[in-house]
Amino acid sequence: MIDTARQLMVPAIDLDYFVLNEDRTVLERFEKMSGKHPVNILITGNQGCGKSSLVSQFASIYDRPMATFQVGLLSEAGEFFGQQRLKGGETFYKEFLFPKAIQTPGCVIHLEEINRSESPHALNELFSILSESRCIWIDELGFVQVAPRVIFFATMNEGDGFTGADTLDAALKDRFYRIHLEYLPLEVEKEVLIRKTGIDEIQAKQILNIIGRIRNNEKAELNISIRHSLMIAELVSLGSTLKEALIYGLQISRDALESLLLAVHVETSEHELKPGAGTYVPYLPDSQL
Ligand SMILES: Nc1ncnc2c1ncn2[C@@H]1O[C@H](COP(=O)(O)OP(=O)(O)O)[C@@H](O)[C@H]1O
Ligand SMILES: [Mg+2]
Repeated sequence: MIDTARQLMVPAIDLDYFVLNEDRTVLERFEKMSGKHPVNILITGNQGCGKSSLVSQFASIYDRPMATFQVGLLSEAGEFFGQQRLKGGETFYKEFLFPKAIQTPGCVIHLEEINRSESPHALNELFSILSESRCIWIDELGFVQVAPRVIFFATMNEGDGFTGADTLDAALKDRFYRIHLEYLPLEVEKEVLIRKTGIDEIQAKQILNIIGRIRNNEKAELNISIRHSLMIAELVSLGSTLKEALIYGLQISRDALESLLLAVHVETSEHELKPGAGTYVPYLPDSQL
């Protein structure tokens, strides 16, 4: 199994990450709850809508170490904890980061793409770990008990374009609170593009005018995430024309872009971005708001 974590560090804060105010509030409640009993949170939403960032932002705000595990890469049971290895003709048990992380008080454990595991057996151990007992027997390690205040976050891509091919096992899903993330309202995404890439208001509006239309157009069949809009904005900030940035950012050909722009009736005139529903706020500690 591959640990993407820089071993158990508190992640750096992203000063330009925005969250729905209600989600910010409920996360504060989950954090309090985690002092009393185990809490598991499932974050769902389209690819690139900010799920992973939300988890690390949470860890950063509450000053908790975090470790991320790519569940999608697991193929059999046991792979979370460690592996038998061979050295100088002798076998030995190599313990992985996972048991260390779950035994670290207050650690945020991010299970990335929990619905993408290659084999359902790979998730077997998670059942015990995510249950109220928070305890598991591993032959090589003995009883492994989850430390106090540890929070499990699982993320999975589940949005409009979701095919249902990798639905999460119902019994496993049952153990989580769930926060569903939508794409940011364009007005807020504009703010993010400006803050993160340094483009100006007019450029941001032009980019999002087109992206907003493509997102709303079913025929376009293109899922444009915030990750993509940021990539496009960054190219524009470095001098690309909007069309060039779209071609490289959306991975489409010049011709495909032209027909796409025709299909979504992009006029060159300026377009007001709709504010969208809900109040979004920077997700920062109270002291920095
Ligand atoms: N709400 C947001 N505010 C600011 N930036 C965001 C937001 N959501 C996503 N991003 C940015 O978009 C990119 C993709 O986000 P990520 O969390 O990796 O998405 P996911 O895990 O859902 O695929 C990151 O660079 C992230 O900082
Ligand atoms: Mg992610």
